[in-house]
Amino acid sequence: MSKLSAAITAVGGYVPQFVMTNQMLEEMVDTNDEWITTRTGIKERRILKPEEGEGSSFLAIQAANDLLDKRGIKAEEIDLIMVATATPDSMVASTAAFVASEIGATNAFAYDLLAACSSFLFGMSTASSYIESGRYKKVLLIGADKMSSIINYKDRTTCIIFGDGAGAVLFEPNDEGLGLQDEYLRADGSGRKFLGMEAGGSLLPATHETVDAKQHYIFQDGKSVFKFAVSNMADVAEKIMVRNNLKNTEVSWLIPHQANKRIIDATAKRMGLDASKVLMNIERYGNTTSATLPLLLYDYEDKLKKGDNLVFAAFGGGFTWGSIYLKWAYN
Ligand code: UT7
Repeated sequence: MSKLSAAITAVGGYVPQFVMTNQMLEEMVDTNDEWITTRTGIKERRILKPEEGEGSSFLAIQAANDLLDKRGIKAEEIDLIMVATATPDSMVASTAAFVASEIGATNAFAYDLLAACSSFLFGMSTASSYIESGRYKKVLLIGADKMSSIINYKDRTTCIIFGDGAGAVLFEPNDEGLGLQDEYLRADGSGRKFLGMEAGGSLLPATHETVDAKQHYIFQDGKSVFKFAVSNMADVAEKIMVRNNLKNTEVSWLIPHQANKRIIDATAKRMGLDASKVLMNIERYGNTTSATLPLLLYDYEDKLKKGDNLVFAAFGGGFTWGSIYLKWAYN
Protein backbone atom coordinates (compact mmCIF):
# COMPACT_ATOMS: atom_id res chain seq x y z
CA MET A 1 0.00 0.00 0.00
CA SER A 2 1.41 3.41 -0.96
CA LYS A 3 2.01 5.94 1.81
CA LEU A 4 -0.76 8.50 2.34
CA SER A 5 0.23 12.05 1.59
CA ALA A 6 -1.57 15.20 2.75
CA ALA A 7 -2.84 17.45 -0.03
CA ILE A 8 -4.56 20.81 -0.07
CA THR A 9 -7.95 20.18 -1.70
CA ALA A 10 -9.66 23.56 -1.29
CA VAL A 11 -8.90 27.19 -0.51
CA GLY A 12 -10.98 30.05 0.90
CA GLY A 13 -10.26 33.63 1.82
CA TYR A 14 -11.60 36.89 3.16
CA VAL A 15 -10.36 40.45 3.55
CA PRO A 16 -12.34 43.31 5.13
CA GLN A 17 -13.84 45.87 2.78
CA PHE A 18 -12.18 48.95 4.21
CA VAL A 19 -9.04 49.90 2.24
CA MET A 20 -6.36 51.92 4.03
CA THR A 21 -4.13 53.50 1.40
CA ASN A 22 -0.63 54.93 1.75
CA GLN A 23 -2.18 58.34 1.16
CA MET A 24 -4.42 57.89 4.22
CA LEU A 25 -1.36 56.98 6.31
CA GLU A 26 0.33 60.18 5.12
CA GLU A 27 -2.41 62.03 7.02
CA MET A 28 -1.80 59.99 10.19
CA VAL A 29 2.01 59.77 10.53
CA ASP A 30 5.12 61.36 9.04
CA THR A 31 5.46 59.10 6.01
CA ASN A 32 4.84 59.13 2.27
CA ASP A 33 3.68 56.83 -0.49
CA GLU A 34 7.08 56.83 -2.18
CA TRP A 35 8.93 55.68 0.99
CA ILE A 36 6.40 52.94 1.76
CA THR A 37 6.31 51.67 -1.82
CA THR A 38 10.06 51.55 -2.39
CA ARG A 39 10.94 50.17 1.09
CA THR A 40 8.16 47.59 1.36
CA GLY A 41 6.17 47.20 -1.88
CA ILE A 42 2.90 48.01 -0.05
CA LYS A 43 0.29 50.34 -1.57
CA GLU A 44 -2.74 49.56 0.58
CA ARG A 45 -4.03 47.20 3.26
CA ARG A 46 -7.46 46.03 4.46
CA ILE A 47 -8.67 46.96 7.93
CA LEU A 48 -11.46 45.49 10.04
CA LYS A 49 -12.60 48.70 11.65
CA PRO A 50 -12.91 48.78 15.47
CA GLU A 51 -16.55 49.88 15.25
CA GLU A 52 -17.41 46.52 13.63
CA GLY A 53 -16.83 44.99 17.07
CA GLU A 54 -15.31 41.81 15.60
CA GLY A 55 -12.06 39.94 16.25
CA SER A 56 -9.91 37.60 14.17
CA SER A 57 -12.57 34.88 14.49
CA PHE A 58 -14.84 36.94 12.23
CA LEU A 59 -12.21 36.91 9.48
CA ALA A 60 -11.57 33.19 10.01
CA ILE A 61 -15.29 32.34 9.83
CA GLN A 62 -15.72 34.16 6.50
CA ALA A 63 -12.68 32.36 5.02
CA ALA A 64 -13.87 28.98 6.30
CA ASN A 65 -17.39 29.42 4.94
CA ASP A 66 -15.98 30.50 1.59
CA LEU A 67 -13.91 27.30 1.49
CA LEU A 68 -16.84 25.06 2.46
CA ASP A 69 -19.00 26.59 -0.29
CA LYS A 70 -16.32 26.09 -2.91
CA ARG A 71 -15.46 22.52 -1.84
CA GLY A 72 -19.15 21.65 -1.53
CA ILE A 73 -18.85 19.88 1.81
CA LYS A 74 -20.69 20.29 5.10
CA ALA A 75 -18.94 21.67 8.18
CA GLU A 76 -19.93 18.49 10.07
CA GLU A 77 -17.45 16.53 7.92
CA ILE A 78 -14.43 18.36 9.33
CA ASP A 79 -12.38 16.50 11.95
CA LEU A 80 -10.09 19.27 13.17
CA ILE A 81 -9.86 23.05 12.86
CA MET A 82 -6.66 24.92 13.56
CA VAL A 83 -6.53 28.70 13.60
CA ALA A 84 -3.04 30.07 13.07
CA THR A 85 -3.02 33.57 14.55
CA ALA A 86 -1.00 36.17 16.42
CA THR A 87 -4.19 38.01 17.39
CA PRO A 88 -6.62 35.50 18.94
CA ASP A 89 -10.01 36.93 19.97
CA SER A 90 -8.89 36.74 23.59
CA MET A 91 -6.41 35.03 25.86
CA VAL A 92 -7.21 31.53 27.16
CA ALA A 93 -10.39 30.56 25.26
CA SER A 94 -9.48 29.00 21.91
CA THR A 95 -10.47 31.16 18.93
CA ALA A 96 -10.59 28.01 16.80
CA ALA A 97 -13.24 26.48 19.09
CA PHE A 98 -15.45 29.51 18.53
CA VAL A 99 -14.88 29.36 14.78
CA ALA A 100 -15.80 25.65 14.77
CA SER A 101 -19.07 26.31 16.59
CA GLU A 102 -19.99 29.29 14.41
CA ILE A 103 -19.54 27.39 11.14
CA GLY A 104 -21.30 24.30 12.51
CA ALA A 105 -18.30 21.97 12.66
CA THR A 106 -19.92 19.95 15.41
CA ASN A 107 -17.69 16.90 14.93
CA ALA A 108 -14.39 18.76 15.07
CA PHE A 109 -11.93 19.51 17.84
CA ALA A 110 -10.20 22.85 17.48
CA TYR A 111 -7.23 24.79 18.75
CA ASP A 112 -5.02 27.78 17.96
CA LEU A 113 -1.45 27.80 16.78
CA LEU A 114 0.84 30.72 17.63
CA ALA A 115 4.17 31.20 15.89
CA ALA A 116 3.87 34.80 14.65
CA CYS A 117 4.29 35.11 10.88
CA SER A 118 5.24 31.41 10.60
CA SER A 119 2.04 30.16 12.26
CA PHE A 120 0.40 29.11 9.02
CA LEU A 121 3.56 27.44 7.68
CA PHE A 122 4.01 25.46 10.90
CA GLY A 123 0.28 24.68 10.82
CA MET A 124 0.72 23.12 7.39
CA SER A 125 3.20 20.72 8.95
CA THR A 126 0.84 19.87 11.84
CA ALA A 127 -2.20 19.46 9.59
CA SER A 128 -0.28 17.22 7.19
CA SER A 129 1.00 15.00 10.00
CA TYR A 130 -2.54 14.30 11.21
CA ILE A 131 -3.55 13.32 7.67
CA GLU A 132 -0.43 11.24 6.89
CA SER A 133 -0.88 9.29 10.13
CA GLY A 134 -4.36 8.29 8.99
CA ARG A 135 -5.94 9.64 12.18
CA TYR A 136 -8.08 12.29 10.50
CA LYS A 137 -9.48 12.79 7.00
CA LYS A 138 -10.36 16.48 6.86
CA VAL A 139 -8.25 19.10 8.61
CA LEU A 140 -9.14 22.76 8.14
CA LEU A 141 -6.23 25.14 8.63
CA ILE A 142 -7.07 28.83 8.82
CA GLY A 143 -4.64 31.73 9.03
CA ALA A 144 -6.40 34.80 10.45
CA ASP A 145 -5.12 38.04 11.88
CA LYS A 146 -6.63 41.34 12.86
CA MET A 147 -3.25 43.04 13.05
CA SER A 148 -4.93 46.46 13.32
CA SER A 149 -5.95 45.47 16.87
CA ILE A 150 -2.31 45.62 18.03
CA ILE A 151 -1.03 48.48 15.87
CA ASN A 152 -0.27 51.95 17.14
CA TYR A 153 -1.43 54.22 14.31
CA LYS A 154 0.95 56.88 15.58
CA ASP A 155 4.01 54.67 15.05
CA ARG A 156 5.20 54.96 11.46
CA THR A 157 7.63 52.06 11.80
CA THR A 158 4.81 49.51 12.17
CA CYS A 159 1.49 51.02 11.07
CA ILE A 160 2.46 51.16 7.40
CA ILE A 161 3.24 47.44 7.25
CA PHE A 162 0.38 45.40 8.63
CA GLY A 163 -3.16 44.62 7.48
CA ASP A 164 -6.09 42.34 8.36
CA GLY A 165 -7.28 39.21 6.56
CA ALA A 166 -7.80 35.46 6.63
CA GLY A 167 -7.24 32.48 4.38
CA ALA A 168 -8.17 28.83 4.79
CA VAL A 169 -7.05 25.52 3.30
CA LEU A 170 -8.41 22.00 3.64
CA PHE A 171 -5.96 19.10 3.98
CA GLU A 172 -7.14 15.65 2.88
CA PRO A 173 -5.42 12.31 2.16
CA ASN A 174 -4.00 11.79 -1.32
CA ASP A 175 -2.87 8.48 -2.81
CA GLU A 176 -1.17 9.94 -5.91
CA GLY A 177 1.83 11.24 -3.97
CA LEU A 178 0.64 14.85 -4.20
CA GLY A 179 0.59 17.31 -1.30
CA LEU A 180 3.28 18.03 1.28
CA GLN A 181 6.64 16.55 0.26
CA ASP A 182 9.20 18.03 2.65
CA GLU A 183 9.65 20.70 5.29
CA TYR A 184 12.48 22.53 7.02
CA LEU A 185 11.23 24.51 10.04
CA ARG A 186 13.33 26.52 12.49
CA ALA A 187 13.06 28.69 15.63
CA ASP A 188 15.43 30.98 17.55
CA GLY A 189 14.08 32.51 20.74
CA SER A 190 16.80 35.13 20.91
CA GLY A 191 14.78 36.96 18.25
CA ARG A 192 11.95 37.93 20.57
CA LYS A 193 13.67 41.15 21.57
CA PHE A 194 13.44 42.39 17.96
CA LEU A 195 9.77 41.80 17.21
CA GLY A 196 6.75 41.25 19.44
CA MET A 197 4.36 42.79 21.93
CA GLU A 198 5.78 43.50 25.38
CA ALA A 199 2.72 43.35 27.62
CA GLY A 200 -0.54 41.45 27.92
CA GLY A 201 0.99 38.01 28.44
CA SER A 202 2.01 36.22 31.65
CA LEU A 203 5.41 37.90 31.69
CA LEU A 204 4.01 41.41 31.85
CA PRO A 205 0.27 41.38 32.58
CA ALA A 206 -1.85 44.37 31.68
CA THR A 207 -1.73 47.30 34.11
CA HIS A 208 -2.43 51.00 33.81
CA GLU A 209 1.32 51.45 33.43
CA THR A 210 1.64 49.00 30.52
CA VAL A 211 -1.23 50.73 28.73
CA ASP A 212 0.28 54.17 29.32
CA ALA A 213 3.64 52.91 28.06
CA LYS A 214 1.95 51.61 24.88
CA GLN A 215 3.26 48.10 25.55
CA HIS A 216 0.15 46.45 24.07
CA TYR A 217 1.16 47.43 20.58
CA ILE A 218 3.48 45.49 18.30
CA PHE A 219 7.09 46.73 18.22
CA GLN A 220 9.72 45.91 15.66
CA ASP A 221 13.39 46.68 15.22
CA GLY A 222 12.85 46.63 11.48
CA LYS A 223 16.48 46.77 10.41
CA SER A 224 17.51 43.79 12.58
CA VAL A 225 14.48 41.74 11.61
CA PHE A 226 15.11 42.55 7.97
CA LYS A 227 18.68 41.20 8.13
CA PHE A 228 17.59 37.94 9.79
CA ALA A 229 14.62 37.56 7.44
CA VAL A 230 16.57 38.11 4.24
CA SER A 231 19.25 35.55 4.98
CA ASN A 232 17.14 32.95 6.76
CA MET A 233 14.17 32.87 4.38
CA ALA A 234 16.52 32.51 1.41
CA ASP A 235 18.57 29.83 3.24
CA VAL A 236 15.63 27.56 4.00
CA ALA A 237 14.08 27.92 0.55
CA GLU A 238 17.41 27.01 -1.04
CA LYS A 239 17.84 24.11 1.38
CA ILE A 240 14.44 22.65 0.45
CA MET A 241 15.37 22.83 -3.24
CA VAL A 242 18.76 21.16 -2.76
CA ARG A 243 17.37 18.45 -0.46
CA ASN A 244 14.69 17.54 -2.99
CA ASN A 245 16.86 17.88 -6.11
CA LEU A 246 14.53 20.63 -7.31
CA LYS A 247 16.08 22.70 -10.09
CA ASN A 248 14.94 26.32 -10.40
CA THR A 249 13.22 25.35 -13.67
CA GLU A 250 11.21 22.72 -11.76
CA VAL A 251 9.82 25.13 -9.17
CA SER A 252 6.41 26.21 -10.46
CA TRP A 253 5.74 28.85 -7.79
CA LEU A 254 7.40 30.45 -4.80
CA ILE A 255 4.76 31.26 -2.16
CA PRO A 256 6.56 33.63 0.21
CA HIS A 257 5.40 35.34 3.39
CA GLN A 258 4.44 38.90 2.46
CA ALA A 259 6.46 41.02 4.89
CA ASN A 260 8.54 43.08 2.51
CA LYS A 261 8.95 42.89 -1.27
CA ARG A 262 12.72 43.25 -0.88
CA ILE A 263 12.88 40.11 1.30
CA ILE A 264 10.79 38.22 -1.27
CA ASP A 265 13.00 39.41 -4.16
CA ALA A 266 16.15 38.31 -2.29
CA THR A 267 14.66 34.84 -1.67
CA ALA A 268 13.64 34.45 -5.31
CA LYS A 269 17.09 35.56 -6.43
CA ARG A 270 18.83 32.99 -4.24
CA MET A 271 16.54 30.30 -5.68
CA GLY A 272 17.34 31.43 -9.21
CA LEU A 273 13.66 32.09 -9.86
CA ASP A 274 12.21 34.47 -12.40
CA ALA A 275 9.84 37.10 -10.92
CA SER A 276 7.01 35.58 -12.97
CA LYS A 277 7.14 32.51 -10.71
CA VAL A 278 6.79 34.44 -7.47
CA LEU A 279 3.29 34.93 -6.08
CA MET A 280 2.77 38.34 -4.51
CA ASN A 281 -0.13 40.44 -3.23
CA ILE A 282 1.71 42.55 -0.64
CA GLU A 283 0.86 45.71 -2.59
CA ARG A 284 -2.86 45.19 -1.85
CA TYR A 285 -2.90 43.64 1.65
CA GLY A 286 0.40 44.50 3.36
CA ASN A 287 1.59 41.97 5.92
CA THR A 288 -1.42 40.02 7.23
CA THR A 289 0.87 37.81 9.42
CA SER A 290 -0.78 34.34 9.55
CA ALA A 291 -2.95 35.01 6.50
CA THR A 292 -0.30 35.88 3.90
CA LEU A 293 0.32 32.34 2.58
CA PRO A 294 -3.32 31.17 2.29
CA LEU A 295 -4.35 34.55 0.81
CA LEU A 296 -1.79 34.00 -1.95
CA LEU A 297 -3.32 30.59 -2.68
CA TYR A 298 -6.76 32.21 -2.61
CA ASP A 299 -5.80 35.03 -5.00
CA TYR A 300 -3.85 32.84 -7.43
CA GLU A 301 -5.82 29.57 -7.20
CA ASP A 302 -6.69 29.72 -10.94
CA LYS A 303 -3.01 29.67 -11.91
CA LEU A 304 -2.14 26.58 -9.86
CA LYS A 305 -2.16 23.28 -11.78
CA LYS A 306 -2.20 19.70 -10.57
CA GLY A 307 1.38 18.50 -10.06
CA ASP A 308 2.85 22.02 -9.75
CA ASN A 309 5.85 22.23 -7.42
CA LEU A 310 5.19 24.90 -4.79
CA VAL A 311 7.85 26.17 -2.40
CA PHE A 312 6.47 28.03 0.64
CA ALA A 313 8.78 30.19 2.75
CA ALA A 314 8.15 32.35 5.80
CA PHE A 315 9.95 34.31 8.49
CA GLY A 316 8.44 35.84 11.60
CA GLY A 317 8.59 36.89 15.23
CA GLY A 318 10.12 34.61 17.76
CA PHE A 319 12.13 34.17 15.55
CA THR A 320 10.37 31.44 13.61
CA TRP A 321 10.94 30.53 9.99
CA GLY A 322 10.98 27.72 7.48
CA SER A 323 10.14 26.35 4.08
CA ILE A 324 7.76 23.69 2.79
CA TYR A 325 7.76 21.86 -0.54
CA LEU A 326 4.25 20.86 -1.66
CA LYS A 327 2.87 19.38 -4.87
CA TRP A 328 -0.44 21.00 -5.84
CA ALA A 329 -3.28 18.47 -6.11
CA TYR A 330 -6.02 19.92 -8.33
CA ASN A 331 -6.84 22.11 -11.32
O1 UT7 B 1 6.55 39.64 9.13
C1 UT7 B 1 7.40 39.52 10.22
C2 UT7 B 1 8.80 39.81 9.87
N1 UT7 B 1 8.98 41.23 9.61
C3 UT7 B 1 9.77 41.60 8.64
O2 UT7 B 1 10.29 40.79 7.91
C4 UT7 B 1 10.02 43.09 8.48
C5 UT7 B 1 11.48 43.34 8.25
N2 UT7 B 1 11.84 44.74 8.18
C6 UT7 B 1 11.46 45.55 7.17
O3 UT7 B 1 10.71 45.15 6.31
C7 UT7 B 1 12.09 46.92 7.08
O4 UT7 B 1 13.12 47.00 8.00
C8 UT7 B 1 11.08 48.08 7.31
C9 UT7 B 1 10.14 48.19 6.14
C10 UT7 B 1 10.31 47.86 8.60
C11 UT7 B 1 11.85 49.40 7.39
O5 UT7 B 1 12.66 49.58 6.24
P1 UT7 B 1 14.20 49.93 6.34
O6 UT7 B 1 14.69 50.10 4.97
O7 UT7 B 1 14.86 48.90 7.20
O8 UT7 B 1 14.18 51.33 7.05
P2 UT7 B 1 14.88 51.77 8.42
O9 UT7 B 1 14.15 51.25 9.57
O10 UT7 B 1 16.34 51.50 8.32
O11 UT7 B 1 14.67 53.33 8.34
C12 UT7 B 1 15.31 54.14 7.33
C13 UT7 B 1 14.89 55.57 7.53
C14 UT7 B 1 15.07 56.07 8.95
O12 UT7 B 1 15.44 57.42 8.89
P3 UT7 B 1 16.98 57.87 9.06
O13 UT7 B 1 17.40 57.36 10.39
O14 UT7 B 1 17.69 57.19 7.92
O15 UT7 B 1 16.91 59.35 8.94
C15 UT7 B 1 13.69 55.96 9.54
O16 UT7 B 1 13.46 56.85 10.59
O17 UT7 B 1 13.50 55.72 7.23
C16 UT7 B 1 12.82 56.29 8.35
N3 UT7 B 1 11.47 55.71 8.44
C17 UT7 B 1 10.44 56.18 7.71
N4 UT7 B 1 10.33 57.19 6.85
C18 UT7 B 1 9.13 57.41 6.27
C19 UT7 B 1 11.06 54.64 9.16
N5 UT7 B 1 9.76 54.41 8.93
C20 UT7 B 1 9.35 55.34 8.03
C21 UT7 B 1 8.11 55.61 7.40
N6 UT7 B 1 8.06 56.64 6.54
N7 UT7 B 1 7.02 54.86 7.62
